[in-house]
Amino acid sequence: MKITVVGAGAVGATTADNIVRRELAEEVVLVDIKEGLSEGKALDMFQTATLLEFDTKITGSTNDYSKTAGSDVVVITSGIPRKPGMTREELIGTNAGIVKSVVDNALKYSPDAIFVIVSNPMDTMTYLTLKESGLPKNRIIGMGGILDSSRFKTYLSLAIGCQPNDLHATVIGGHGDTTMIPLTRLATYNGVPVSQFLSADQLKQVAADTMVGGATLTKLIGTSAWYAPGASSALLVESIVRDQKRVFPCCVYLDGEYGQSDICLGVPVVIGRTGWERVIDYKLNSEEQDAFSKSADAVRNMNNVLAT
Ligand code: NAI
Repeated sequence: MKITVVGAGAVGATTADNIVRRELAEEVVLVDIKEGLSEGKALDMFQTATLLEFDTKITGSTNDYSKTAGSDVVVITSGIPRKPGMTREELIGTNAGIVKSVVDNALKYSPDAIFVIVSNPMDTMTYLTLKESGLPKNRIIGMGGILDSSRFKTYLSLAIGCQPNDLHATVIGGHGDTTMIPLTRLATYNGVPVSQFLSADQLKQVAADTMVGGATLTKLIGTSAWYAPGASSALLVESIVRDQKRVFPCCVYLDGEYGQSDICLGVPVVIGRTGWERVIDYKLNSEEQDAFSKSADAVRNMNNVLAT
């Protein structure tokens, strides 16, 4: 197995670090446009092989995609992150050009790869990748819902006073402060609805905190987060390369599912060796379905910016 991670910045390097520690591939290639950055970070990571006892080889490449040839998975994290006060949507102009050129280059050398899109605004970048590459829809997966769900579980655990790992909770819809939908009705603590532990007001607060979870970190750190984004991306890659068939909320191309078409949006999907295999129907109630339609409208408006 060979995995390429494009973008050796905060999120890309953390993703690669998680991938090598978990030995998800024989070989990982880290690519960046900035001279020396990917080589340096890759060498630093490879020097942890004997300390952390992993056998995955990791190398860096300054924009030479021939080194990525034959990759099974390509993770795209290249692009600018947001600064405090910025929305993910404001990144579109710069990041669309970057993602487009990266997809073109990576595809030349890895025509059979599955593409994982992390760069923001992620829903639109996933849609752009689908249109730009002409690849089958199952091979293009946007990562956002896994991260948002982990934030949802963190805030729920803090409110309930329990371990995050005892919770099941999912965020669907767009990966934006106003477009994501934390599904509080379906969230459970050891199989019991969280509404038995938290009041309606508390649940509302948890959902609100989740939606601005990224912005909260950006304000604190001064740039966007990387530990949880990197771990989320690696978890998605793991389900692909190990064919685990895990169900994760991911941004995928919808063709009638959840009442939407010609859009990439976050829904629960089965993730395996061929990419996303099928959409799981969570049977939303009318309020949730309405929120999903509104989220789709906002993401569609963003996608339309690409065409102008
Ligand atoms: P960063 O600035 O630390 O790293 C980005 C890297 O991309 C830089 O090293 C830069 O040199 C590189 N780059 C720029 N143009 C390139 C090109 N044409 N080819 C190869 N490399 C190129 O940014 P960070 O924090 O790693 O964030 C990366 C992206 O991920 C941002 O767009 C950010 O908004 C997004 N993000 C997405 C999340 C998600 O859940 N989908 C979560 C967190 C961040």
